[in-house]
Amino acid sequence: MTAPNIETIVSLAKRRGFVYPSSELYGGLGSAWDYGPMGIELSNNVKQSWWRWMVYERDDIEGLDSSIILNRLVWKYSGHEDTFSDPLVDCRECNTRLRADKLDNGKCPNCGSTDLTEPRPFNLMFQTHVGATAEDDPNSLVYLRPETAQGIFINFANVLTTSRRKLPFGVAQIGKSFRNEVTPGNFIFRTREFEQMEMEYFVRPGEDESVHQEWIDACFQWFTSIGLSSQNLRLYEQPKAELAHYAKRTVDIQYRFFPERDEDERQWDELMGIANRTDFDLKTHSKKPENEEGKRLNPDSTEDLSYFDEATKERFYPYVIEPAAGVNRTVLAVLMDAYTEKTNDKGEKRVILKLHPDLAPIKVAVLPLAKNKPEIVALAKSIKRTLQPSMRAVYDDTGGIGKLYARQDEIGTPFCVTVDHQSLEDNAITVRDRDTWEQERVPIAELERYVFSRLKRVGV
Ligand code: GAP
Repeated sequence: MTAPNIETIVSLAKRRGFVYPSSELYGGLGSAWDYGPMGIELSNNVKQSWWRWMVYERDDIEGLDSSIILNRLVWKYSGHEDTFSDPLVDCRECNTRLRADKLDNGKCPNCGSTDLTEPRPFNLMFQTHVGATAEDDPNSLVYLRPETAQGIFINFANVLTTSRRKLPFGVAQIGKSFRNEVTPGNFIFRTREFEQMEMEYFVRPGEDESVHQEWIDACFQWFTSIGLSSQNLRLYEQPKAELAHYAKRTVDIQYRFFPERDEDERQWDELMGIANRTDFDLKTHSKKPENEEGKRLNPDSTEDLSYFDEATKERFYPYVIEPAAGVNRTVLAVLMDAYTEKTNDKGEKRVILKLHPDLAPIKVAVLPLAKNKPEIVALAKSIKRTLQPSMRAVYDDTGGIGKLYARQDEIGTPFCVTVDHQSLEDNAITVRDRDTWEQERVPIAELERYVFSRLKRVGV
């Protein structure tokens, strides 16, 4: 079972402290969201799981954390200043601003009118100014990055030299990106501030196509490894007309974000993109390439980002394969996929988040069965303290046991541990499994090993 729609997740997310509407006490801010105590854990676990898979479990990837505000010339030569825009139209009837490429039959979705202005490009980069200069000083203009990728390209030579890498190798980065989206919406699916997990994999030209395919398969596999059902994932080959200015081929991994829609085709949207960016980026930021008249294509760059292959004595610009995923969209997909409803013995409906244990915000909840018995409370708290250096564990005595179980089920905690009178005598506790609701008596001394053996990883 998965969530029937995004709205179900919006209310669960607020109720259980995953995601709150931002700035709510001042009336909110369109499409801005804050991650609560459970949301930050889930989002950190998604990022750490990706980083572990992408960087630690491979031999050919380095990490990087570049600035959000870069020299404006980066965005000039990357092509974003000229082309990173959406076609915008205004409805003359109700004055709504719309994306021309998302209209159904050329109609305004707000009032149904077809009296729309001609499309015009609207650049999505957020502008700001650096330093204590006048706001209209063009020299102080900078942008918040709309993708983390460019920070990697401009550091290509730095990483290559300091890590003594040879092709093929990749550089991974996780961080915030900003786009002044014309039509943000659908909860955390499309926002103006979001997080990306991107990796730029540098290869010899000619090897790009097969490596691209390998990354498409590997990324699909990664999403299933963190618990997404392959029924809710599919590959989408971007048609030529949709390709970004730098791409030779791009395949998106789409998720069934809108299962409530009748038409199957409209149920899917992008979770990540895997692009073959060719040698566009390294070339465009290099000082050497020239046009036919011998004029430098980039007269501002002070470096050449070509690669010298010692073995073949060849110099060339590597091609780039780029798996680019959104943290927030992954969080949304993970929540939708984990959403399950189950009826208990009393006929009451319970929500269970069947999150992959790697991603669960809390791994173990320790619950005393008698909170007015100091020995039981002390033992429960000491069990929590024993677990906490190696995994996220919590102690909770703020309700009856049924309520405590239900609360943990709703946030996806894989194990609930109850401490009772018997525990004081036999030094054992009861462990209840989130998914089966089965209970098992386990010696306290073996609890940590018990949990470790059932989780793929703890303390992600
Ligand atoms: N460097 C390539 C690049 O940025 P993209 O397809 O524009 O490619 C990659 O972005 C991923 O970032 C998307 O697949 C999506 O998951 C996420 N993303 C992009 N725009 C977003 C937005 N406005 N809100 C949330 N996530 C977004």
